[in-house]
Amino acid sequence: MMPEMIYLDNAATSWPKPDCVSEAMTDAIRRCGGNPGRGGHRLALAAGELLYEVRERTAEFFGADDPFRVSFTSNITMAVNLVLNGFLNPGDHVLVSPMEHNAVMRPLTAMGISYDILPGDRNGKVLLSEIQRKIRENTRLIIICHESNVSGIVQPIRKIGQIARENNIFLLTDCAQSAGHIPIHINTDNIDFLCFTGHKGLFGPTGTGGVVFGDRVDIGRIRPLVRGGTGSLSESFDQPDFLPDRFESGTQNICGLAGLNAGLKWIEDQGQEKLTQRCRMLMDQLRSGLELVPGIHLYSGEGQVLSITIDGLDNGTAAAELEERWGIMTRIGLHCAPLAHKTLGTFPNGTIRFAVSPFTTQKDIEICTEGCKTLAEESWKKK
Ligand SMILES: Cc1ncc(COP(=O)(O)O)c(C=O)c1O
Repeated sequence: MMPEMIYLDNAATSWPKPDCVSEAMTDAIRRCGGNPGRGGHRLALAAGELLYEVRERTAEFFGADDPFRVSFTSNITMAVNLVLNGFLNPGDHVLVSPMEHNAVMRPLTAMGISYDILPGDRNGKVLLSEIQRKIRENTRLIIICHESNVSGIVQPIRKIGQIARENNIFLLTDCAQSAGHIPIHINTDNIDFLCFTGHKGLFGPTGTGGVVFGDRVDIGRIRPLVRGGTGSLSESFDQPDFLPDRFESGTQNICGLAGLNAGLKWIEDQGQEKLTQRCRMLMDQLRSGLELVPGIHLYSGEGQVLSITIDGLDNGTAAAELEERWGIMTRIGLHCAPLAHKTLGTFPNGTIRFAVSPFTTQKDIEICTEGCKTLAEESWKKK
């Protein structure tokens, strides 16, 4: 018989979601079943109201004054692609952190944009003193993965943003892992393009995410990634130049956004600080349980995710054993972030990754620690 499930794959997507998320999604289908901005009847208006509510809540969550500066996309990958394709021009130069995800590296490569990797310490934390040296005349953007999805290292975005501003460069933050875990304020943190995904720390469903545009961004100079129907200015073949329509063509994911709205509200109701404290406590427990175990190598920062490798044990076998014997669900490999693994020295085999959520219990962490220790001991004995 399989042991009970212990879900520690929250860096891939959070699970479980608070009950209010699925309830809000069901309610949206029943009550807001029209197409927002595409009709004057009550179902379309209800959908439009809901869309505005989640836009407003998202703006407020990230400290943006104008809800219309939030553009929803289907995930952060789409949000990053929107910004890179819309903002960068041939000949531009970009600086990236040493911990970037392929959501950044693949579009940059495909676009043929030249980039440099910012020097970091051995954990991949950007060395602030090195940034200025890397800036070129044509550097237009700095891209920072706020919290690494491999090790949980958190980058000092506010200070990086300050340096960017002093040099008239823009800052894009990949907040896939940090949103919901770490308070992020678009203005105070000096962010120009705040990209987020809805289905991780914000507890929304998959298929939600977006960009929040900072005040310095001239929207008119960002080319849309997708063009089409917006329900506005339909007499014209040209894409509207105003927000949110400029970047939101096609019918929005109302049901998904209803779930995101509920996830954000749940965080507000619980208190983000309280949730973060709980996850920190669980991560401290996990770290201290694993760090002195012979044969276990730990890759960890201050966030809600960490990675390990076990001497003499293949990651795939370790993950299969963890699930079969202890019910622990995890993710192994490169986590779509080969650059981060090159930085940490874990390329090409990658790591075994664990990520907690407020629904994780101390008992779950105890079992996980014991499971990893047992595997390390067994592997050592086989040597
Ligand atoms: C740091 C980081 N960036 C980008 C992504 C891509 O997220 P999504 O699949 O929601 O677009 C992820 C998630 O895997 C991530 O951890």
